[in-house]
Amino acid sequence: MPGALPDTPSDSLVFFGATGDLARKSIFPSLYRMVKAGTLTVPVVGVAFSNWTVADLRERARQSVSDHPDGVDDPAALETLVSLLRYVDGDYQDPATFTHLRKELGECSQPTHYLAIPPALFGTVVQGLAAVGLNEGARVVVEKPFGRDLGSAKSLNAAITAAFDEHAIFRIDHFLGKEEIMNLLYFRFANAMFEPIWNRNYIASVQVTFAESFGVRGRGSFYESAGALRDVVENHLFQIVALLTMEAPTYQGYGAVQAAKANVFNAMRPLTRDDYVRGQFVGYRDEEGVASDSDVETFAAVRLHIDSWRWAGVPFYLRTGKCLATSVGEVVVEFKRPPQALFDDAVDPHQRPNRLRFRLQPEGAIGLNVRVKRPGEEFVGHERELVLDTESPLEREPYERLLSDALRGDSALFTHEDSVEAAWRVVEAVLTDHAPAIPYEPGTWGPEAQADALIGHHGPWHDPHEADHPAPVGTTAPSGHAQGGHA
Ligand code: BG6
Repeated sequence: MPGALPDTPSDSLVFFGATGDLARKSIFPSLYRMVKAGTLTVPVVGVAFSNWTVADLRERARQSVSDHPDGVDDPAALETLVSLLRYVDGDYQDPATFTHLRKELGECSQPTHYLAIPPALFGTVVQGLAAVGLNEGARVVVEKPFGRDLGSAKSLNAAITAAFDEHAIFRIDHFLGKEEIMNLLYFRFANAMFEPIWNRNYIASVQVTFAESFGVRGRGSFYESAGALRDVVENHLFQIVALLTMEAPTYQGYGAVQAAKANVFNAMRPLTRDDYVRGQFVGYRDEEGVASDSDVETFAAVRLHIDSWRWAGVPFYLRTGKCLATSVGEVVVEFKRPPQALFDDAVDPHQRPNRLRFRLQPEGAIGLNVRVKRPGEEFVGHERELVLDTESPLEREPYERLLSDALRGDSALFTHEDSVEAAWRVVEAVLTDHAPAIPYEPGTWGPEAQADALIGHHGPWHDPHEADHPAPVGTTAPSGHAQGGHA
């Protein structure tokens, strides 16, 4: 059995792609936090083909942590991190790189290999590791995107499982390490009151928005090979949908969660051309690394169905994009209207029905929109939102959580082969069979006419500003905000 046994702590972290952008922006700050939290005490060997020395890597680590918005509040921890760093420079195609790595690991025999590198190199690195026996007693953590279609995901899985057992493979979707997303699972199954209404009988539709107000931030050439559907919808947004819609896990333990989620991916109906709206922000083609006639989408909206007993007939509308009106992650579950018109205003089609809103970022919140009677003789009401602020000052960076878990051998928050392949199956047809990307102005909600047509009578698309800037209490505007509900 080549892989490390579950629950055996790793004795080193090998970090491929240590000189890259992800490392600078996210990984070094997370490693620093891990040192502060005591979850990183083992050597960290950076590997890259950049002609760097260990001194360069140490300088990069210091710089990256200082540049992070949280800065350095524990200089001793930063120095500890720096002292744990080692470095191997070399071409991943060259077997000598792996011999050198083996030597650098010295006595360490149970490494976790973290592959923060382009997916095209995963297979090469895994083979290089196996050739020098560095797969034995080891784990491997792979970054998204895990393939670019079903075929490449299968080949990748085959390449990795040739050298590592499934339990030693940790496929990262960093959204799963976000507190607000973990809370979707907790909230659903720690509160029994929602279960009876969490189905097609009471829910009319669900919207998931993950909008970013910024562009591709220098990642033009990566984006050209990905696009919004592959970059965010197929992984991050599908994971959110799976947590929202899965059946209750049958026992306490993440194996049960993985199985329940896999059932959702398998029940997702493959998307067709009509389920998918693509947009591209004006200016994208001027980005470095982007083709002047690029048709890659920087905005994607899809209509998704889950063909299960619970969700038959309930559409899920997902949208994401760069250069949109704001940066926000939000889920809105819209309930059905009352079946009888006892109060005219409560069934007025211009008034939105009850909604449960999960704000995922930039801050966490849960809102419940309900109608309440306005004082007076008439039975007329207005909408109020009961808001629960779930923001926690103790929130951990997703990578801090996920890399700590991987080093401990806890795969709960990682994705499995079956789910990855099932998710690719859902988008497979529309990766190639789709309408051209429609240009949209930065600062808007993408190609709005087409996105509105997609959502049709289940619309409008939820406007996250509405929740941030509620109508004053006492007006007849469709949205209000009950401060009394704040926790
Ligand atoms: C990444 C995507 O997986 O997730 C990026 O590649 C996106 O394009 C990012 O910006 C969003 O995640 P976060 O945690 O930065 O909000």
